[in-house]
Amino acid sequence: MNGLTGIEKVTYGVDDMSLSCKFFSDWGLNLVKDEADIKVLETLEKSQIILRKTSDPQLPKAIEEGPTVREVIWGVSNQEALNAFVDKISSTVDITWGDDGIPRCIDPNGLSIGFQVTQCQKADVKGTPSNTYDQIFRVDLPAPVYDRARPLNISHVVFFVEDLEAHERFYIDLLGFNITDAYPGRGFFSRCVEEGTHHNLFLLKVPNRKKGINHVSFMLRDIYEVVGGGLHFSGCQWDTLVGPGRHPISSAFFWYFQCPGGGQVEYYSDEDYLTRDWKPRLNLEPTPENYAEWAIVGGLDLETRRQKLT
Ligand SMILES: [Fe+2]
Repeated sequence: MNGLTGIEKVTYGVDDMSLSCKFFSDWGLNLVKDEADIKVLETLEKSQIILRKTSDPQLPKAIEEGPTVREVIWGVSNQEALNAFVDKISSTVDITWGDDGIPRCIDPNGLSIGFQVTQCQKADVKGTPSNTYDQIFRVDLPAPVYDRARPLNISHVVFFVEDLEAHERFYIDLLGFNITDAYPGRGFFSRCVEEGTHHNLFLLKVPNRKKGINHVSFMLRDIYEVVGGGLHFSGCQWDTLVGPGRHPISSAFFWYFQCPGGGQVEYYSDEDYLTRDWKPRLNLEPTPENYAEWAIVGGLDLETRRQKLT
């Protein structure tokens, strides 16, 4: 057990601070720090998106050109676990302690990652389950229609990598992440906890694609919020990449939007929850049907409530 809990903070270097700030406000995050050179936005569980200008010398080195994710901070359950974790990995990787008290190192992509005692806390939020033939969860209670989303946490990050094996040695062997599922030679899903949601980190090697951000994903309370949230966000004139749809791997309902901070952001809900009894599926094929059971390209239109046809 490595004591890790999940993602605490994701820092972006962006070209347009006010546009990116509006993007994440529309996304449903709360703006908790609003200064000229830094914006901080929080989910309901208080995981944070941090925005700084691409040119800000305080940002860690970029792993690709243009706006992109510049750092990921992972949570650890308590100070004792953090000290033990850093002690363990410091014989293998260089650790630097920032003025903010956060120990940091560099992953094989060249991405800055750090660790802090978790500041996240459970949100007082209730999702609405679906009724099935044999399990009736909703009685005299219609399923909700949401007018926007309020993301609970930053559940996973996904990066393109150039050296998949080096990442496996780093995240699995050294940091103690658990492999959930894998596409041999092409990528693997991993979770920083033994018991929890399907993945916190998905690393993907695609021929002729350099390293960089793929997407940052936010958990919503139920599948109805994915649709209501996506419709609202679409109505704010942000562009869908693909969604809504459903991933057969992880089971989640999803909706991906293009992000001015680089890559995409994802709303999702109803992801598989795994324990130590989960048997990783290590021979998955990267086929279209494994990516999405079904999906709508271009999204849905808030006005017509139908597929966007442009
Ligand atoms: Fe995702």
